[in-house]
Amino acid sequence: MAVIAGNWKMHMGPARARAFFDALDLSGVGDGHDLVVFPPAVAIEAAVGAAKRAGGRVGVGVQNLYWMDEGAFTGETSAPMAVEAGAGFALVGHSERRHLFGESEGDTALKVGAARRHGLVPVLCVGETLDERKAGRVDEVVLRQLNAALPALTSADRRFFVAYEPVWAIGTGETATPADASEAHATIRARLVDALGPAAADVPLLYGGSVKPGNAAELLSADEVDGVLVGGASLDPASFAAIARAAG
Ligand code: 13P
Repeated sequence: MAVIAGNWKMHMGPARARAFFDALDLSGVGDGHDLVVFPPAVAIEAAVGAAKRAGGRVGVGVQNLYWMDEGAFTGETSAPMAVEAGAGFALVGHSERRHLFGESEGDTALKVGAARRHGLVPVLCVGETLDERKAGRVDEVVLRQLNAALPALTSADRRFFVAYEPVWAIGTGETATPADASEAHATIRARLVDALGPAAADVPLLYGGSVKPGNAAELLSADEVDGVLVGGASLDPASFAAIARAAG
């Protein structure tokens, strides 16, 4: 079983979200995989309706949320609002949130907590920049980001995902090798087992960064890679389905 997740980023409004599901052909995709897309917040409701009409195999998540339930927070989306729109998952701490919008590790912990309080499955994103990789700091950065969110992740029931997305591989065409992904995932797994015990063996660890139909099978068969978080290649229904087929 693999998790195939598509992060649409700031693409695909309601009309394109509906068109995606109208065109999505999941024939040949193995049973039991978790398929999820993350549309922009304004398109969640349209995507949820279209996903249901298309057979209900694809879940929908929110790309970001604010940790308060409601209030004077212009421009923000809360967890209960995302749930009301039909979301079941929440990306938290995507590198674009951290690096373009100055989201701190404290913020990501609060967001994970809000997602869990409202029953959204958090997908915590972690990953190093190129400079950090060159300086041999992959484990340090990934563990720092993971540790900041761990108390919120482990406080209630345990369903959550972690996505390792090296910043230098996002949207660049540069993909981590399967060995790079396995190495970082093993670091994450060891820390999770330390914090949670043997139950952590079941936490899906996703790789993200220039995943395409042509490299998905190899990445998905790497040790400790339980799924993929796909950006650009998830916008096209044929390519999203091809990546899901690569999971076997
Ligand atoms: P790309 O697949 O476009 O590199 O994006 C990866 C990503 O950031 C998914 O969250």
